[in-house]
This record gives sequence, C-alpha cells and structure tokens, in this order.
Amino acid sequence: MASTANEQAPSYPTAIAFCLTSTIWFAAATSFGMIAAGYLFAPDFLANIGWLHFGKARPIHVNLVLFGFVTPGLLAAGFYMIPKLLRTELFSEKLGVFTAVLWNVTMLCAIVGIGAGYSQGREYAELPWTVDLMIVVLFVLVIFNILMTIRQRKESILYVSVWYITAAVVLTGTTYGIGNVIWKPDTGALLGIPDAILLWFYGHNIFGLLLTPMGLAVAYYVLPIATRSPLYSHTLSLIGFWSLIVVYTHIGTHHLLQVPVPTYLKVIAIVDSVAMVIPVMVVLINLWFTVKGKWAEIHQDIGAKFVFAGTIYYFFVNIQGSMMSLPVVQRVTHFNNWVVGHAHIGVLGFAGVTALGGIYFLLPRITGKPIYSRFLADLQYWLVLIGITGFAIVLTIVGLIQGQAWINGETIYRVLPQIQPYYIARASLGITIMLGAYIGAYNIIRSIFFNPGATAK
Ligand code: HEM
Ligand code: HEM
Repeated sequence: MASTANEQAPSYPTAIAFCLTSTIWFAAATSFGMIAAGYLFAPDFLANIGWLHFGKARPIHVNLVLFGFVTPGLLAAGFYMIPKLLRTELFSEKLGVFTAVLWNVTMLCAIVGIGAGYSQGREYAELPWTVDLMIVVLFVLVIFNILMTIRQRKESILYVSVWYITAAVVLTGTTYGIGNVIWKPDTGALLGIPDAILLWFYGHNIFGLLLTPMGLAVAYYVLPIATRSPLYSHTLSLIGFWSLIVVYTHIGTHHLLQVPVPTYLKVIAIVDSVAMVIPVMVVLINLWFTVKGKWAEIHQDIGAKFVFAGTIYYFFVNIQGSMMSLPVVQRVTHFNNWVVGHAHIGVLGFAGVTALGGIYFLLPRITGKPIYSRFLADLQYWLVLIGITGFAIVLTIVGLIQGQAWINGETIYRVLPQIQPYYIARASLGITIMLGAYIGAYNIIRSIFFNPGATAK
C-alpha cells in the first residue's frame, strides 16, 4: 500500500470498507433476531406486518449474520492480514472497495428478496436466485483479488493464515453455486433426498469451510502479534489445516441422521465428526501454547481479548458438535432449541466474536490512533459474552425439555407453555447482544471517521 502524506487517510480502504459493512449489518441482523425472538414468546407480536413475520424475519436474520456480519468482518481482517503477511500491496484496493460496496447492495437485495416472499425455502440457502448470483460474483471478486496478491507477493513463505483465507474463499466460491442449485433458477433445489444431501454438504461447509478457516486465520495472526510470541509450532499449524480440509469437507450428512439417506454417508459423517477433535485440538493446543502466560498482553489488546474468547467458544462448539453427531445424543437434541444454542455458540461465539476481535485489532493499526473508546469496546465485549453464554444455557435447557418431552410422546404444542419463560429469557439476553452491536457500531464508526485520537475516552 502506497504511503500517503495525509495521516488521516486510511491506508487499507478495503479492510475499512469491510469493517463498516460488518459492523452495520451486525446491528441490523441482531434487530431482525430480536423480532424473530419476539414472535417465539408472543406470536401476535407485529402480526400485521407481513414482511416482518417470523417466516421472513428468521431467514433475514440468519443470512444477515452469516453474509452481512461475520463473513465481511473476517474478510476485513483478511484484507488487512494478506498484504501484511505477503509484504506487498493488495492487488487492487479499488476492486476491494467496489466488492465491499456491491456486498452491501447484495445484502439489501437479500432483505428485499426474502421480505417480498422470494425465499427459496432451503435453510441457509434461502436467498433468491439473483442474490445467489450476486454472492457468487462477490466471491469471485474476492478470490481474484487475493490470488493476484499472492501472485505478486514479496514474501515466499505462506503463513498458515494465508492458507486458511485462500481455502475459505475458494471452497465457498465453488460450493455456493452447487449448494444453491444455481442452475435451476426457478426452484434453486433438486428433488427429494439428493437435495437434502446437497444442501447440507453446502450448509455445513458454510460453517466449516468459510467461517471456521477464516476465524482461525484471524486467531493465528492476532494472538502471536498481540502477545509478541512466536507461534508455538508451524508443523502443528499445517497438520491443523490439512486435517480440517480432509475431515470437515464431508460431514454435512450429520444434519440428516434422522433422514433416509444412504447409511454409508451417515457412517462417514459420524466417524469424521468425531475425528474433528483432531483439527480442533491441534489448532487450539498450538494457539493456547503460543499465548500461555501472556494474559496481561491479551487483556491489553481488546482485539486479542475478543479473539481469545473466540477460541474458548470454538472449543465448546466443537466438543458439543462431535457429541451431537452421535445418533444416541441426536435422538434427544435434533429439531429443537439445543441446535439453535449450538448455532449461536458457533456462528456468534466463535466466528462472530473472532470477527469483532479482528476488527478491533486492525483499526488502531490502520488509523494510527487508539480506538475511539476502549471503555465502549470492553462494554461491548461483556454484553456480547453475557448474551451468548446466556443463550447457550437457556437454549440448551429448552432443547432438553423439548427433546425429552417428545421422546416421551408429548406433542409439540403441549410443551410450548413450559418453554415460554425461557423464550422470554432468550429475548432479554438478545437485548444485551443487540445493544452490544449498536455500541460497537458507534465505536467503530467513530474510530474510523471522528476519532480525536489519544484524547478519546
Ligand atoms: C467438531 C465440529 C462440529 C461438529 C461435529 C458439528 C456438528 C453439528 C451437528 C451434528 C449439527 C446438526 C444437529 C441436528 O440437526 O440435530 C450441527 C448444527 C449446526 N452447527 Fe455444528 N458442529 C461443529 C462445529 C460447528 C461450528 C464451528 C459452527 C459455526 C462456526 C457450527 C454451526 C452449526 C450451525 C449453525 C448448525 C445449525 C444447523 C441447522 O440449522 O440445522 N458448528 N452441528
Ligand atoms: C439480538 C441477538 C439475537 C437474537 C435475539 C437471535 C435470535 C434468533 C432466533 C429467534 C432465531 C431462530 C431460532 C428458531 O428458529 O427457533 C435465530 C437463529 C439463528 N441465529 Fe440468532 N439471534 C441473535 C443474534 C445472532 C448472532 C449475532 C448470530 C451470529 C453471528 C446469530 C446466528 C443465528 C443462526 C446461525 C441461527 C440459525 C439457527 C439454527 O437454524 O439452528 N444470531 N436467532
């Protein structure tokens, strides 16, 4: 990146543009989450507003957290880390900023498309065909920019974060169109069981081969720098990377254990879901040994603090995930709020918190000033952490109540009064997360545009 005479000008416009994208959609996504949560304990809530009903608010919420908040947040860090690690400029900052602008237009189209009733009705693949095309174009642009940057690099060694980011965008760019059956614009689906298999091959790849590697790339970059410690083991980092690619690519059928898919697919999915303990623990041992005894440094850097918290949630979501892949456990946990709890621990607790960490880590380094308010960042940290941990506890309890009742032959609707107080608790906890998102948006926008620097509180 060419140095500029004007100190105020951000040196990494693409990273900044993705920071802003992520932070704004985080606030919007949690607002839609609150609307969805409201419907679950008060079904008449906003009943007359068709485009805000649960059936629309939920997919809007889910798509905005995945593609509006978490992915752009992790990409912001990616567009900062890649030039740094490769000791070169980003191939094209103009293309990067254009991609970020198009990203925002795509998210707006996603809301309008689903709100207007054009959902394709497949979980994590609800977006209408035109928006699917836009997402594929976005990934192609990101892949092109990253691969060309790698091509012109001055550093010959590719640090593991570069491997993870490249794998994440290439694998998602190629599997998104397949999972969304993009060659069938009218339905975006195959028929019957093959469709379910394809959907969950893609669906789990969104968590396992987009959010997970991008999150790990950020952790591998932020933690050693913040603690000024060399990475514990480069060999372990390679074992972690390749074992993730080998094991995580084909476990999507663990979402379909209750479905008549071929048994061999279930067996592969179960065995490799348990084997996931290898890539997970190899990475965590590597990262935790790197930062061992450096708690003060982690606390000093709010970015590292978020990222470290993300590694803790990564541990829990994966241990829980391997357990949930066992048929005997899933008989209780499937189709109920246990899975929603797991989803929030993974997508928010691990990937979302890591994305926030990446943003807070890069902002002072890009702007050359401390973030606008460390106090507000810490407040956001605690609001988000309290919210997620509360979600995990409440939703797990609700899941167990539902699972046990259903196994005992109870009908779904007769369990509802019993779980209503928990839904109220979940919505209350959601307020803390939403508040955290809005406070973070204010702090991040002020850090970029209206930051007095060292005088800031
Ligand atoms: C060892 C790693 C993991 C394993 C073995 C695993 C396993 C599972 C299983 C078996 C389910 C389906 C449960 C059911 O429908 O009964 C599930 C759902 C889910 N997982 Fe994981 N998980 C892992 C890690 C993660 C991570 C890291 C994330 C997020 C980044 C994540 C996000 C999700 C989400 C969002 C769902 C909900 C899918 C739905 O709506 O049905 N998982 N996971
Ligand atoms: C204000 C905070 C939030 C609230 C109130 C909230 C609420 C909800 C609700 C009500 C659902 C639908 C659950 C159902 O169908 O029973 C949901 C699903 C989901 N939310 Fe959130 N959410 C919040 C924040 C987030 C954030 C920040 C993320 C990720 C970064 C996230 C990720 C997800 C995912 C992946 C699902 C799909 C779960 C599944 O299908 O199993 N949520 N959320």
